[in-house]
Amino acid sequence: MIAKDRQSHWENVYTTKSEAEVSWFQETPALSCDLLNFVGATRTSSIIDIGGGASRLVDSLVAQGYENVTVLDLSEAALAAAKARIGDKKDQVTWIVCDVTIWEPVATYDVWHDRAAFHFLTDPADQTAYIARLRLALRPGGHAIIGTFALNGPEKCSGLPVIRYSAESLGKTLGPGFVLVDERINEHLTPWGAMQKFQFSTFRFTP
Ligand SMILES: C[S@@+](CC[C@H](N)C(=O)[O-])C[C@H]1O[C@@H](n2cnc3c(N)ncnc32)[C@H](O)[C@@H]1O
Repeated sequence: MIAKDRQSHWENVYTTKSEAEVSWFQETPALSCDLLNFVGATRTSSIIDIGGGASRLVDSLVAQGYENVTVLDLSEAALAAAKARIGDKKDQVTWIVCDVTIWEPVATYDVWHDRAAFHFLTDPADQTAYIARLRLALRPGGHAIIGTFALNGPEKCSGLPVIRYSAESLGKTLGPGFVLVDERINEHLTPWGAMQKFQFSTFRFTP
């Protein structure tokens, strides 16, 4: 899928569906918060949520006092929904509207968090482009927390095909320099009660 088609797909999703109508909606991003604690993130750590969409992770981070939070998504409508929800606190967050595969990072981050964005990149060239950005934007010693559908998770999301991963296959795809420090299966319940198996894999970046 080319970047332009991807963007119009997701803009369409976020302009036509409410939170409760998207399968990935979570009231509380508990596992992501646990994993941020696990990697030792502090209130001053720089954290980027890749493909953060309209997720409530940003609400939770800002409420907990995290001071250096960035949300990147290719959908302007998704970020607008998150900004509207958190109100004045939106000014405490850096918002980037961009396709991660063409993004040019200008800062480095202590933590790269991605829940359900990387798995949409089915084309090896897009995966390579994502990983190049990950390597540029994550500081040595920093952590990547990546949630994808698990090997026995759904084959599609939002009508798009995904690649399902184990921690091992994701590590292989990311390539050298990413040391697996944690892996867990997460059973996500969609707003309509269907269970989806996610794989959350956390890597320490040691280039
Ligand atoms: C399934 S949603 C997950 C949203 C959010 N991470 C969450 O957990 O609620 C996937 C998100 O990834 C974004 N996305 C998909 N491909 C992307 C890309 N190449 N670059 C940036 N964002 C992307 C979509 O716009 C969408 O917000």
